[in-house]
Amino acid sequence: MRADEEVTVTICPDGPLLVRGPAQLRTVDGTTVEHDRSVLALCRCGRSRLKPLCDGSHRLSRFRDPASAEQIDHVLADATPLPTDGADAA
Ligand code: FES
Repeated sequence: MRADEEVTVTICPDGPLLVRGPAQLRTVDGTTVEHDRSVLALCRCGRSRLKPLCDGSHRLSRFRDPASAEQIDHVLADATPLPTDGADAA
């Protein structure tokens, strides 16, 4: 991954998170999952049979996310950042 390449996450209304850019997908045990996609759609509704990827099941389940940009700002303001690889978690 080049340091100058940007990774963005877009919240789709009532749908997945779209991750654009050279993001690595890792399992909970730290294993990197290889992929050749420039856009990853990550399931947010919990109904996908291809988790963590979206398979479109959110449409069938009529997933609704009432979160607004203001609510997200509020949550992020109160959240504790997770430590990143190689960083001190002090
Ligand atoms: S967000 Fe699409 S299947 Fe869950």
